[in-house]
Amino acid sequence: MPFFGTVGQGLVGFRSRFSMLKERIIGRTREPNMRRILSGMQPTGFLHLGNYLGALKSWVAMQGTGACFYAVMDLNAITIPQPPDELRRATRRTAALYLAAGVDPAKSTLFVQSAVPDHTALTWILATQTPLGWLNRMTQYKDKTAGHRDRERLGLFAYPVLMAADILVYKATHVPVGEDQKQHLELTRDIAGAFNRAFSREVFPLPEPMIQTEAARIMSLRDGTKKMSKSDTSDYARINLTDDADTIALKIRKAKTDADPLPGEVKGLEGRPEADNLVTIYAALAGTTRAEVLRTRAGTSFSTFKKDLTDLLVVHLGPLTARLNELESDPAQIDSILHAGAEKAREETQKTMREVRDVIGLYG
Ligand code: TYM
Repeated sequence: MPFFGTVGQGLVGFRSRFSMLKERIIGRTREPNMRRILSGMQPTGFLHLGNYLGALKSWVAMQGTGACFYAVMDLNAITIPQPPDELRRATRRTAALYLAAGVDPAKSTLFVQSAVPDHTALTWILATQTPLGWLNRMTQYKDKTAGHRDRERLGLFAYPVLMAADILVYKATHVPVGEDQKQHLELTRDIAGAFNRAFSREVFPLPEPMIQTEAARIMSLRDGTKKMSKSDTSDYARINLTDDADTIALKIRKAKTDADPLPGEVKGLEGRPEADNLVTIYAALAGTTRAEVLRTRAGTSFSTFKKDLTDLLVVHLGPLTARLNELESDPAQIDSILHAGAEKAREETQKTMREVRDVIGLYG
């Protein structure tokens, strides 16, 4: 069918054909029904076992199941002041860790967020659709500013809108993250829906959070009620992905537990957060469930279990650390992967931004 009809078909017919043409040009840019996967981490502090089990491990597993975009989120990181040299170093190192963990640039687009300006362009547009009340509910802003009045800045408050833009600018359908990001993902869905409704067009899919069942929340080794985190002042609270075998052994030996041996079923871990955490880590590394670990290890003392857990950690993290050292000895190679990734990412975001600009009536 020709796009432009005869003069006799009138202006209405012309208009609808013209918009069909535009839709075809926009529609042609992406395969329908293909899963689009996006995730990222902030380049702050050390990446730790929680980042690996809660997110990175599943990013690697999801390669080949759709179009994958994995970014180092440096613009999110600067919502809390970062020393510039440290930020630069941590950005490259975070990318190196993605690669060392198995993110493959032949299968995934790997890039640094700030190298793709459309993340911030879309943030502004989405900010115009985001009621303040939604942002007021975000617990991370409250946690990060508690006791830090100097952190109460617009950027930190608007952080979840930038995160929504990170996701929506790729029209991502699936977002593998740890449980602590769930509220941000819900907000992303709300913002996408608000935008679609405001302009009566299904521009953005509502992205699905993909949260691990067993490793959604890895806890501190010193306090089983606190999340394992980059910002914990005690290095003994976490296993860094760069820790060597001796350090891992020492940290697991010192990890808090209680006097009882392993129970036979998951119910027996109730009220024992530290024991639960070590069993969770074991299960996630072994690719099984807590129930299965307990079924086979019931009655084992924690001194024995800790030794086995150390061995499992070393088997998993040893090759990752070795590969990381290799990659870090050749920063030019990392940079060239990141540059190529950013170029591919920009092509994707430009398609979305063309559509968004058109839908909201921005000139040009
Ligand atoms: P970040 O850098 O704090 O953490 C990166 C990923 O690791 C997960 N994670 C954990 N999972 C289990 N147990 C833990 N103790 C643990 N600690 C961290 C996080 O859930 C996350 O998946 N806001 C994000 C970065 C971001 C982002 C995005 C993520 C910015 N834009 C767009 C996805 C999509 C963050 O601060 O993650």
